Order: sequence, then structure tokens, then C-alpha cells
Amino acid sequence: MKKQRAEKEGISEEKSGALFAGELLRWNRYDNGRQMPWKGEKDPYKIWLSEIMLQQTRVEQGLKYYQNFLSAFPDVHSLAGAPDEKVFKLWEGLGYYSRCRNLLQTARYISGELNGVFPQTYQEILSLKGIGSYTAAAIASFAYNLPYAVLDGNVFRVLARIFDKETPIDSTAGKKEFAALAQRILPAENAGEYNQAIMDFGATVCKPLPVCQDCFFNASCLAYRAGKTQLLPVKEKQTRLKERWLNFFLVRCGNEVLVQQRTGKDVWQGLHQFFLIETEKAKKAKTLLSLFQQESGINEYAVQEEWKETQVLSHQRIHFCFFLAQVKRKKNVAGYQWMSLAQMQQLAFPKTLKQIIQTHLV
Ligand code: ADE
Repeated sequence: MKKQRAEKEGISEEKSGALFAGELLRWNRYDNGRQMPWKGEKDPYKIWLSEIMLQQTRVEQGLKYYQNFLSAFPDVHSLAGAPDEKVFKLWEGLGYYSRCRNLLQTARYISGELNGVFPQTYQEILSLKGIGSYTAAAIASFAYNLPYAVLDGNVFRVLARIFDKETPIDSTAGKKEFAALAQRILPAENAGEYNQAIMDFGATVCKPLPVCQDCFFNASCLAYRAGKTQLLPVKEKQTRLKERWLNFFLVRCGNEVLVQQRTGKDVWQGLHQFFLIETEKAKKAKTLLSLFQQESGINEYAVQEEWKETQVLSHQRIHFCFFLAQVKRKKNVAGYQWMSLAQMQQLAFPKTLKQIIQTHLV
């Protein structure tokens, strides 16, 4: 249907794809002002690192982490040889900590089993832990100019609009259709440059709220011509956030606080936290304090502060409730350790808890 419509309007999808690719490369060479330190980078280790760090993260935020990480671990061997805690500390605040765990595991594999030599084919790159089709295409095209099209949120949006595609991008059919379309219009000889350019174009021109008046392709963009840019891309499902209530007790004795490391398959695995009571819904302070006494065995304490915060993760909304509780004597609490501020500052905590250490404990 769509193909026929485009053809009726005088140009086939194949032709407009080739036209778009050519004009995108021209735009990239002369008009793309976006600067990022990993642009033009050929070292697959650095590309890998930057792409993993940028997933689900704003470029401005990822930048600082990327630079700190690279100065600490300039190559795959230095990352592979680092203690887990040091790597997690540098990742602290970036979120999605499984990315960091996989990064470290893969660095150790490349360093130990592959002599530090990064794989050089798409399939081998894709087989590495923590690397999916997007990251494999980015590394293969940026480092080796191999003809694999990247497909991230930016690319979905650009293609849906240029070609007026209404198939939901989060459906199985949509993923297949967009992957095939992206691959068809990729200019194989300039794969790396084109992939970088289409992501920059999506981030600066064909944004969620697009600036069509600045677009080199607006006269040929099917969504723009039909007045549909705001309606595309289409998504099938809305992400439902799971609500959670995490009640933290900062139990303090002098300069020391009760801390534990999170285990189990949940958010923030491997990071550290304070005394926690999770509840199924919001509870009154009185109820929480009584639960605290039962679960910690601590009966003598003075609550100095109590406050609430929320944090939204990709699939969860966390309602935090904090109590700053002073005790006179250190009591042993199963599963927790008393730790000084200096010790805590060496460890990785989830972002909200890290901020609280700075604002309430330092
Ligand atoms: N987002 C993630 N990686 C990117 C890249 N290499 N260029 C532009 N935007 C990106």
C-alpha cells in the first residue's frame, strides 16, 4: 500500500532511500554541528564503552562517565584487571547496572581468552555478552566500516517519518520491517559515517518534537507532507510502571551507618544500601518504625529526620521513605555491617542513596 502510494507520488521507496542517504551524508559533512569525543573513533574498545554507556542515558550525562572511565581504564586489559568495586564505583549513578556487570565480564573474556584483540566480524561481536544488534552494528560499522545499519530510538523515528511507516516500532513485525528498511537504505561504502549521521540527525533535527523547517529532506518526507510528524513513530504498548515502596533507615552511631550489599535478581544488584524494609504500599511512619524494631531488633533510637522522595526507573516507580535514626550503641544486625563514611565513599550506591549520603551524612 505505502509503496504504491510513494510510487504514485512519483518516487519509489528505494529511490527516496538512496536520495535520503546521499543528502544525509552531505548534511553530516557540512551542516552537522554535533560534537562528541568518540566521533571518528576507530578503537573498538572505546566505541563499545561509549555505546554501552549511552544506552538509556542522555549524551550530556554519559560524556563525563565516559571520560572518567577511559582515564581509569584506557584499554581492555586495564578494565579486565580492575576489581569489581572500582568499576562499579565509576559507574555509580549511571543506572542499569547489568550493563556494567556485562561490560566487565566481556572485558575479562576479551583480555583473557582473546589476548585483548576485539572480534572483527559482526557475528562474533554480537555473540559477546551484553552486546545486542544495535551495539554490534555500531562497533562493526564505526571501527571496521562493515555494512550493518544501527537501529536505535533515533533511527526508528527518522525512518517512520521519512517513509510514513505506521507499523508499531515495539511490535515483532515492526522491528523486522524497520530493520530491513534500515539495512536496505544503508550506503555500504559509508556505513560508519551514515550510521553516526542518522543518529545525530534524529537527535538534533528529527527530534521527538521535530524542527522540520531546518530539515534538508522536508520536501520529500512523507510524514511532513501528510502533516503526520507528531503521530509517528507509532508504539503498541505503553510501558506500565511497577510501583514500589522502599523504606530506608539510616541507622547511625557516631560516624558509622548500617549498610549492606544488594544481592538477588533485582534493580541495583551488587550495589549498597541502608537498612531496608520494602512494603506493598505506602505505610504510616508509626507502622514503619514498629516494623523497623521488629526486623532490626533495635529498640532504642531517636528519629532525627524523616522525608520522602521518588525515582522513576525504566519499569518501576520507586517511592522512597527515609528515616535518619540515631542510636547510642552499635548493635549487630544480621545481613548488615557498620561502616564509616570513608568506607561508604569507596562503595557504589544507587543514585538516590548516593545523594543522600552527600546531603544527610557528610
Ligand atoms: N547515541 C548513542 N550512540 C550515539 C552515537 N554514536 N552518535 C549519536 N548518538 C548516539
